[in-house]
Amino acid sequence: MTLRGVVLAGGKGTRLGELTKVTNKHLLPVGPYPMVYYPLKKLTGLGIQEVLLVSGTEHMGDFVELLGSGRGHGCNMTYRVQDEAGGIAQALGLAAHFCTGSRCLVILGDNIFLDPLGPFLAAAGEHADSAWVALKRVHDPKRYGVAELKDGKVIGIEEKPERPKSDYAVAGIYLYPPDVFEVIKTLKPSRRGELEITAVNQYYVRTRRLGYTVLDGYWTDAGTLESLAVANQLVRQDPPRF
Ligand code: DAU
Repeated sequence: MTLRGVVLAGGKGTRLGELTKVTNKHLLPVGPYPMVYYPLKKLTGLGIQEVLLVSGTEHMGDFVELLGSGRGHGCNMTYRVQDEAGGIAQALGLAAHFCTGSRCLVILGDNIFLDPLGPFLAAAGEHADSAWVALKRVHDPKRYGVAELKDGKVIGIEEKPERPKSDYAVAGIYLYPPDVFEVIKTLKPSRRGELEITAVNQYYVRTRRLGYTVLDGYWTDAGTLESLAVANQLVRQDPPRF
């Protein structure tokens, strides 16, 4: 089955205050590059040639100006507009046509991490019908989707739980089989009014089709002032491997 890449770069970016007043979070600098280069390079580093970027109306023009056709990155870029920030799963739903009949590797545009994704893809490759997530042990799991593990399997995932059942955060790196778009169609908005990617992953837990790979190297989001500073520090010390 073919594999297509999706970078989700919409959302409101409200947690970055004045920094995102006139631009999009994913265009801010992390080390020597705009943030969006990192997820994009992870995808192209795997040889993925077709990449879809989703963002809102406000700054789509800037993404097109930055990435163009994708020629400079060795890929073909496709762009889709998410009219309102209705959640990660809603943004992914816009990739339905782009991904018809393919598996899709999705990376959240604000996730910065060291490991190249070859081992993740190799592990997932043996289970073509499953969804696959990357997990990372963190000291503050309440900020993330959190996986509950038993006997080497994910048996539950909760979004930003008050009392996390483990310290394994679900990173913003997901591989889905083609039926993910049918799953997204069944979702209802959560309490925060979004179609949640965690609800998608819970479906694959329930149907026993969710696998995972634990990331060895550093992983952080860059969506708060603090984590953006951390991302810059990490990237300078040890540049991500593509
Ligand atoms: O970073 C990993 C975490 O990302 C996961 O552990 C959580 O399960 C997942 O829900 C998500 O949590 P956040 O609350 O941190 O996600 P955030 O709203 O910051 O969105 C992350 C990225 O997704 C953002 O950089 C752009 C994209 N996005 C988000 C929304 C809400 C969109 O493209 N469209 C959207 O409507």
